[in-house]
Amino acid sequence: MPFINPYMEKLDQFQPMIIDKDWLKKSATSEMIFDNSNPLILDIGCGAGNFLSQIAELNKKFNFIGIDLNYKRLFKGARKVMRKKLDNVKLLRSKAEYIEEYFAENSLSGVFINFPDPWPKNKHRKNRLLSKEFSLKLYRLLHKSGFIYFKTDYLPYYKEVKEIFSAKFSSITKDNSSLKEIELTIKDTVQQSITSEFEDIFLDKQESIYSIIWRKTP
Ligand SMILES: C[S@@+](CC[C@H](N)C(=O)[O-])C[C@H]1O[C@@H](n2cnc3c(N)ncnc32)[C@H](O)[C@@H]1O
Repeated sequence: MPFINPYMEKLDQFQPMIIDKDWLKKSATSEMIFDNSNPLILDIGCGAGNFLSQIAELNKKFNFIGIDLNYKRLFKGARKVMRKKLDNVKLLRSKAEYIEEYFAENSLSGVFINFPDPWPKNKHRKNRLLSKEFSLKLYRLLHKSGFIYFKTDYLPYYKEVKEIFSAKFSSITKDNSSLKEIELTIKDTVQQSITSEFEDIFLDKQESIYSIIWRKTP
């Protein structure tokens, strides 16, 4: 018997919060998905949705889509979104590498990437999500003042991503800055103590966290 992930079905219970990716067809915008023109923000690799559900609760004038490939984590995220009764959040079960298949050019106002899998072993580095190719995809999808907020605990990945992304985007903060330092309308995630599941783990262990924010155009 082939293995069927039980969380596939469990996730289905949360319709219409779960987006049918076949419907997006490279043309998704805030209007199409949420029926309003509020700015669209992605949380890429949103995991179990701690960060996503909190930032969306504090920013009701923004629409949020959490993308993750893991059914069980998305299920946990969907439960949090439902408990908070948020209608500005949807979830997409997909590899983030396919985002260009879903969203229209210039449709995104911002992207959060919190603690993507670092793949520290040399032989696994090819699995890292953040690459030059991915930076070009984000560039096409972000509108001109769109931002990317990246956080990791793994310094070699941070340095690599910083070099790749800074070639295409304008870094608008120094290392380890918070959203407070830029004029985003999104409320300051640090001041509001919004942390992701993995961030909590690293904070508990008092490990260093590296973060940076870019904008498409300065
Ligand atoms: C280390 S966890 C971080 C989760 C969350 N952002 C946090 O900070 O707690 C990485 C997450 O990315 C997801 N992920 C890994 N590779 C992915 C990919 N190619 N596309 C989408 N999600 C991915 C994993 O399933 C996992 O939930």
